[in-house]
Amino acid sequence: MKPLEKIGIRALRSMDPEMAHSWALRALQMGLAPAPGILTSARLQTRFAGLDLPNPVGLAAGFDKNATALKGLHRAGFGFFEVGAATPRKQTGNSKPRLFRLTEDRAAINRFGFNNDGMVAIATRLAKRPKGAIIGLNLGANKDSLDRALDFSKVLNHCGKYLDFATVNVSSPNTENLRDLQGKSALTTLLQDVISTRNGLEISLPIFLKIAPDLTKAELAQIAEVALETGIDAIVTTNTTLSRDGLVSLYRSEMGGLSGKPLFSKSTKIVAQVSELTNGDLPLIGVGGICSAEDAYAKICAGASVVQLYTALVYGGLSLVENIVHGLDKLLKHDGFQNVSEAIGSKRENWL
Ligand code: FNR
Repeated sequence: MKPLEKIGIRALRSMDPEMAHSWALRALQMGLAPAPGILTSARLQTRFAGLDLPNPVGLAAGFDKNATALKGLHRAGFGFFEVGAATPRKQTGNSKPRLFRLTEDRAAINRFGFNNDGMVAIATRLAKRPKGAIIGLNLGANKDSLDRALDFSKVLNHCGKYLDFATVNVSSPNTENLRDLQGKSALTTLLQDVISTRNGLEISLPIFLKIAPDLTKAELAQIAEVALETGIDAIVTTNTTLSRDGLVSLYRSEMGGLSGKPLFSKSTKIVAQVSELTNGDLPLIGVGGICSAEDAYAKICAGASVVQLYTALVYGGLSLVENIVHGLDKLLKHDGFQNVSEAIGSKRENWL
């Protein structure tokens, strides 16, 4: 990390976490964040769900909920990034405080509750997206919606033409009962509707499903079955957890979803389990607790084709992206892999 970024991160960490986050977005908008540009190599170039990525390291949903920092994120070195969650109507989310730093645990707890500007404002920003970037949108549902399942299709229908991929997020713990949509029958209908909406768009784009890390093996088996039957293009494993195992930080008992380092092992096990349940036939995005190149590599070896991260950026700054991308290249080379796909699932057994 360069001295200037170190000072910036220290200043941000002394502020209220939500305020610090808006300053981080502002730095990206103003071109003040690390901007290595496109990071790629023959080993890192990855074709994933029909998308050609310069590298397999992406930004997870929730960092840029309103798509306000697309240019800065494109320059930050991510192979792809996911904005949102977007809901049909603007909503303010839960009352503050709703984001907590768990510094000693290198983690965060959030209970934002899909605060966002709504699909119309977000689509207007996506329409001005930077050229060459690979951008997806996390689809959400309004808290007070009478038909939450329909909300996902509404957002996709409105924003789809500006996207490279879209993620159905039925795994946020911060909208009451949302996770019930992960059940077999509700999920089948929901995904069928989303896919038929996608098929009606003027452009074709892959649809991903994002799942929770707190599912049993039987629940995962059902989701894997639905995913294969409905023909979605990938599963994002995973969202934040309700577990609080092993935490030491002051805010460990706050309600909400836990992300960061303590989530790593739990979500990586889910990657391996879903990979096994789908016979490696369905591409997976590994997300949860990635803090280093070694972590990103471990997710790939457990069965992920590409990875995403968020919370580690709070502690390591955006220069972490470049470190992880370059480190991953070296780890692949060291183990004799010519490209990312050769490494996928190579150590899956270790996580089962
Ligand atoms: C999130 N995450 C998230 N996920 C999602 O699908 N839609 C969302 O709107 C959000 N919002 C959100 C806000 C905040 C503050 C955090 C920390 C996280 C979850 C995120 O995309 C990711 O799945 C988890 O955070 C796990 O990855 P990390 O953070 O451990 O790398």
